[in-house]
Amino acid sequence: MSEGALSARISDAPSDPIFGIVELFRADQRPDKFNLAAGVYMDEQGITPILPSVREAESRILSASTTKLYMPISGDPAYLAAAKTLLFRTVGGAWGEIESAASERVQMIHTPGGTGAVRLAVDLVSRLRPGAEIWVGEPTWPNHTQIIESARITARRHDWITDDARSLNTSALFDAIAAAKGGDAMIFHGACHNPTGIDPTPEQWIEIAQQIAHRGIVPILDFAYQGFGEGLIEDAASLRAFLATGCEVLVASSSSKNFALYNERVGSLAIIGADGAAAAAIASHARMAVRTMWSNPPAHGGAIVSTILGDATLRAQWEGEVGAMRTRIQGSRAALVAALATAGAGDFSYLLNHYGMFSLLGLTDDQLTRLRDEHAIYLVSRGRINMAGLSTTKIPIVAKAVASVLA
Ligand code: LMR
Repeated sequence: MSEGALSARISDAPSDPIFGIVELFRADQRPDKFNLAAGVYMDEQGITPILPSVREAESRILSASTTKLYMPISGDPAYLAAAKTLLFRTVGGAWGEIESAASERVQMIHTPGGTGAVRLAVDLVSRLRPGAEIWVGEPTWPNHTQIIESARITARRHDWITDDARSLNTSALFDAIAAAKGGDAMIFHGACHNPTGIDPTPEQWIEIAQQIAHRGIVPILDFAYQGFGEGLIEDAASLRAFLATGCEVLVASSSSKNFALYNERVGSLAIIGADGAAAAAIASHARMAVRTMWSNPPAHGGAIVSTILGDATLRAQWEGEVGAMRTRIQGSRAALVAALATAGAGDFSYLLNHYGMFSLLGLTDDQLTRLRDEHAIYLVSRGRINMAGLSTTKIPIVAKAVASVLA
């Protein structure tokens, strides 16, 4: 091999902390195996279904579509309008009414999934604030630090949770806000924190947003689970708190989870500028960044979302479907806590204070390996469990297995 070959000086890259585990699960030949690793919703039968509203929207799109022409760099205007309304809906208002500041100060960019939106947000920090560092509360979605480092930015870590992994570590958070330089960015999870399920209260969001604005830090909200916590509007309390301060914010949202459009890769970046002109200027740089990364986004997922949200009947149906997914996840969470107690694993009732798909069971690497080897149960580091992957038949089996590795 020549000294200049790409492969000349390398060893294998590590496997992805989440999708690497899914690969191990796929390779497992045992018939009764449990994938509680990747954050995907499964029904009682272990299937990740296509939502009925999505099926109906797709059949409408199929009969009405006439072209596969490129979209603008910023994406599909109909999807962007729909995504903007979903994010910034006025509390108590009719569909279509959005916070007035949002209509003036927000520019939207259509991205391949929430990951594309986070990547674009980080790229904007690197382009517009050279030398800035990006702060993340640990533990966080492991891809956050991977994305920051691939943009050649320094990731600064602070604690998000207390040592017992049960609640928000407010003092570590406010210390980090005080330590960050003006112009640094800080990533927050808009709702349903991944992997801990530990979210600030609406009052805490207001205080966090005010401190962030006061210190001149750029907040990046990763908002991948809207509707899976308490409700579509309730979950946007974080966003409303930042909007109210007047500071600039980047909001990465995803349609993967709440529309179950995982493989369509559809999301958006909302750019909230200090004013309309600032948002337009930032968006012009975002379009430059997009042109060099994916040029313009894939169309189909955005067409599904705008078809659903643009039709009052389909939209109401979809809101019911999101509500049903949320209620089922909450039910599985409660049933798991009860089953863990019955199995003698201990008191996990603190999990009932958490939101969304995930929580940490606090398991060691050895315990996770035993769960995989002895019970064919796949979880992510620290025992991140996907509550949305449980079912009434799986819950007692998983609880017994966890009890046995904790014993
Ligand atoms: C997860 O955290 O499991 C999901 O968000 C899937 C992903 O992209 O990592």
